[in-house]
Amino acid sequence: MRLSLRFVLPLLIVLAGFAYAIVPLVDQFTQRWFVRDMDIRSSLIANTIGESLLEQVAAGSKAKTAAFFVRITQDERLYAIGYCAAPQSAPLASKLFPGDIRCDNLTRFEGADKNLLTSASGPLHVAVKPLESGGTAAGKLVLIHDMSFVERRSEETRRYVFFFFAGLAIVVSLITVIVAQLSWRGWVQGMRALLRGEGLLRQPPVGAAQPEFQPIARDLQRLIRDLENEARSRDEGQTTWTAESLRAILQGELRGEDVIVVSNREPYIHQQRGDHIEVQRPASGLVTALEPIMRACSGTWIAHGSGSADRAVVDARDHVQVPPDKPAYQIRRLWLTAAEEAGYYFGFANEGLWPLCHIAHVRPTFRSGDWAHYEAVNRKFARAVAEEAKTDAPIVLVQDYHFALLPRMIRELLPNATVITFWHIPWPNPESFSICPWREQIVAGMLGSSILGFHTQSHCNNFVDTVDRLLEANVDRESFRVTLGGHATAVRRYPISIDWPPAEEMVGKPVDECRAEIRRAHDLPADHAVGIGVDRLDYTKGIVERFRAIERLLELRPEWIGRFSFIQIAAPTRSSIEEYQSHEAQVRALATRINDRFSRAGRAGPPPILLKVEHHEPRQIYEHYRAAELCFVSSLHDGMNLVAKEFVASRDDGRGVLILSQFTGAARELPEALIVNPYDADQCAAALHLALTMPEAEQRDRMRLMRNLVAEFNVYRWAGRMLLDAAIMRRRGRLADGAATAGNG
Ligand code: G6P
Repeated sequence: MRLSLRFVLPLLIVLAGFAYAIVPLVDQFTQRWFVRDMDIRSSLIANTIGESLLEQVAAGSKAKTAAFFVRITQDERLYAIGYCAAPQSAPLASKLFPGDIRCDNLTRFEGADKNLLTSASGPLHVAVKPLESGGTAAGKLVLIHDMSFVERRSEETRRYVFFFFAGLAIVVSLITVIVAQLSWRGWVQGMRALLRGEGLLRQPPVGAAQPEFQPIARDLQRLIRDLENEARSRDEGQTTWTAESLRAILQGELRGEDVIVVSNREPYIHQQRGDHIEVQRPASGLVTALEPIMRACSGTWIAHGSGSADRAVVDARDHVQVPPDKPAYQIRRLWLTAAEEAGYYFGFANEGLWPLCHIAHVRPTFRSGDWAHYEAVNRKFARAVAEEAKTDAPIVLVQDYHFALLPRMIRELLPNATVITFWHIPWPNPESFSICPWREQIVAGMLGSSILGFHTQSHCNNFVDTVDRLLEANVDRESFRVTLGGHATAVRRYPISIDWPPAEEMVGKPVDECRAEIRRAHDLPADHAVGIGVDRLDYTKGIVERFRAIERLLELRPEWIGRFSFIQIAAPTRSSIEEYQSHEAQVRALATRINDRFSRAGRAGPPPILLKVEHHEPRQIYEHYRAAELCFVSSLHDGMNLVAKEFVASRDDGRGVLILSQFTGAARELPEALIVNPYDADQCAAALHLALTMPEAEQRDRMRLMRNLVAEFNVYRWAGRMLLDAAIMRRRGRLADGAATAGNG
């Protein structure tokens, strides 16, 4: 309505001005017409009565002439009449003949515009008509018409003009309002439809978004989105990251984008159990982190199909929709031969790169046969990415050390792809890395990425130093960008984390119940002190060093013998690799020796180490965390270590002490833990004793700070931050392309 008024008011002002200007003009014209009419009428009367008047004047009867004049002036418009025989004579005149008209001043009325006279009774029209008799002049007839009717008419005309313009204004206003409302609404609807993307994606229905708006809408849409995105990127620190907010941001940010994840381990594994198929979810941080992205973008996750029933559930193109209960995205499974798996996964990835990157004093083993398989399998995954890509510029999230060559291979097949690679394990210093026979190929392969992420800044630094040492690449240490062969890679730190808040099923059981149940399950007295360790049975986790620290504690503080036990949950892993087999044997033997030693010490009671080499469900693990007095993470080298963060997340009671190796990425984020060097058994033993005796208030203070950090820097932030950076990169790329096109055009 306000909008319509904005149209109508100026219109009314224009019309009023027009009316104001036109009324006097109309007045003037009508008056001129009437004066001309009066002239014609006067000539007519003069011609009609002239002869008989002259006869009566000649007859000399003044009375008859007067009666004649009375008869003629009965015409309502003829106000008065007079006759002048000569300029010196007195006029013969009817009753109302104005006294100021005399025979000697008649010339003042002869002329088209001189014939108006104002009298007390109103305006008068004076016409002076010369009479003739037998061809000679015979005096002048003066005809005076009442012109007051002209004023009346003029008044009426003014009224008509006023009403005409008023009516016109109303009609025009109404039409304007209706047209404005209809077209505005239509326009707004059209624009809205287009901004929602409807008009762009499909032909608009009749009467909906007009096609002529489409180019404007497209630009407008992009501009609005860019502004929103810029604002979001700036406000990212304020965002509370949850699965929901990540999904919402990505839906806005990556709407319509083609997102592909590549990892070795699949997020859902189908296993044959007797005559039925069981769906297994690997307890992996990577899966927790990437699943919300996949759900938000309905993307494709390419992974090695390693489950015994994986082939049974895929379609003809090796796809399976997941999650099984509520499909939101698809897994594309790739099948590897036993030789490929042995060479690429067990061989080069886990016997070569794994020990190479974790400086854990296990020699890497490099075999050219493994390298060949590694290369071939990476190529196989690259082809799968190209097959799965719906556009020429997908966003591809490459996960981990299994795929060092993949980023470059993807770039060769899809030059416009945005490749985000995340290296989940540490990156060693250049000297350590240089022992790899294929070091240049690995680094060059990784530099096919648009963004290359590590957990910590020191891993980023090590990588950039390695590039500097190995390749002829341009390394910008200011912005941490590496340019190789014209392609730039941003090297960034994205510390991975866990789901926050933890799922209800993980922390639903009260801490007291967890304490009681875990002690009962392990035959421990109700007041027994418990420590917990949860790891894959991997030599990088420092399980041997952990056990030695427990042994040292019992040596130095014998009061804990029989009063403290450490439960070590060790998930079997990569057990076909010799190094892992001997590591398992070493761990088992050490636990037995320590238990024997302190049982023999004479004090009966539970063993100090309870080693559980078996798979545990995440819920059971959380129950252990909640039951324990302390959690001990003693990795010799670890990219991040999510067990530390899980323990913190599980302790909503504010109790429990975390002992954390200084060689984990997590130690940089959780300084309130008791930070230890796992190689220093005495220091670790002291930390164990400190943890077991720490006052409750101090435990709560430390735990509160650590919980705040994990809440803020959760896994959704990790994933969201990487994708937002990729989105900004793509926008900048589009702008640069646009500028280049404009420049060429
Ligand atoms: C490490 C890797 C992960 C991997 C996990 C389990 O943490 O960084 O990518 O998922 O180990 O290893 P697995 O060999 O069993 O997949």
